Amino acid sequence: MFEIIDKCELCEKVHQFKIKAPHLVEKAKAGQFVILRHGENGERVPMSIGGLDRKNGLLTIVIQEVGKTSGAMNRMKIGDHFTDVVGPLGIPSHVEKFGNCVCIGGGVGIPPIRPIAQALKDAGNKVISIIGARTKNLLIFQEELSEASDRLLISTDDGSYGTHGFVTTILQKMIDDGEKIDMVIAIGPVPMMKAVVETTRKPKIKTFVSLNPIMVDGTGMCGACRVTVGGKTKFACVDGPEFDGHEVDFDEMTKRMKMYVKYEKQAYDKFLHNDHCRLEKAAKKLEQESK
Ligand SMILES: Cc1cc2nc3c(=O)[nH]c(=O)nc-3n(C[C@H](O)[C@H](O)[C@H](O)COP(=O)(O)OP(=O)(O)OC[C@H]3O[C@@H](n4cnc5c(N)ncnc54)[C@H](O)[C@@H]3O)c2cc1C
Ligand code: FES
Repeated sequence: MFEIIDKCELCEKVHQFKIKAPHLVEKAKAGQFVILRHGENGERVPMSIGGLDRKNGLLTIVIQEVGKTSGAMNRMKIGDHFTDVVGPLGIPSHVEKFGNCVCIGGGVGIPPIRPIAQALKDAGNKVISIIGARTKNLLIFQEELSEASDRLLISTDDGSYGTHGFVTTILQKMIDDGEKIDMVIAIGPVPMMKAVVETTRKPKIKTFVSLNPIMVDGTGMCGACRVTVGGKTKFACVDGPEFDGHEVDFDEMTKRMKMYVKYEKQAYDKFLHNDHCRLEKAAKKLEQESK
């Protein structure tokens, strides 16, 4: 059992957890992920490593509520326990002296960019991070990314903070301005990673993306996370999650990720209904007790 030592809300439906997992934290490296389970019959969900506090054996993960299991996890409290935290899984990020690196994060893809930016900086690279969100209130990990980077640039879709536009608006401007970029890594929603890859394709800038297809076992056995990279079948859990972005078949990946949407929605609706009933019951009990 893995205890939640700290938890806070970063923005609407997004929570940060610090989980006691000393053995995992000792071995984990930037770019890897874990698989969590909440309850004996819980679903296994993959989550990226957002931070590693080796001194205190604490793992940081950031969970966005998008369905039944992420919703149930985000309702857990400090002192509660995850039944399993399996990992570290996947191949760590490729870290070497590239020169000028641009680390791009969107949404819950921002936290896993932090340890990667730090590792690249520690390896002697100049690190420019670009993070983006739909609007100012949804921006997370600004301080953390600022600490791990030489320069932090921010975009919001609605222009409420930083550059008005997408992360690729900033990246394109850097390219147009003739800034020297030796390597790009992007983590975030599939359309964002695809847009980054299209921006760097023509100037031939080496670009890595961290793929997040549906996963089940996380050990290369079930085939759920199958993706096509460079015309070859790869399993994101063991061959990735990072791949050469210019080689990834994003259209196939998007189609595969939509396969269970109908069932996922049914499960989430039922979860929200039960959650609503539970809250109503608790409120009634409190009211009766206070009479
Ligand atoms: C390597 C990896 C790292 C990840 N890291 C994080 C993280 O740090 N933080 C975080 O919040 N989420 C992360 N995810 C996504 C997370 O695993 C899913 O959001 C979660 O499994 C959804 O479970 P659910 O039961 O709540 O929702 P479901 O009912 O399973 O799905 C609800 C919605 O989310 C979409 N979805 C389902 N699985 C995924 C997925 N793997 N990636 C993206 N969308 C998905 C579905 O298409 C559907 O629209 C990661 C996924 C992978 C593969
Ligand atoms: S999750 Fe099963 S093979 Fe990757």
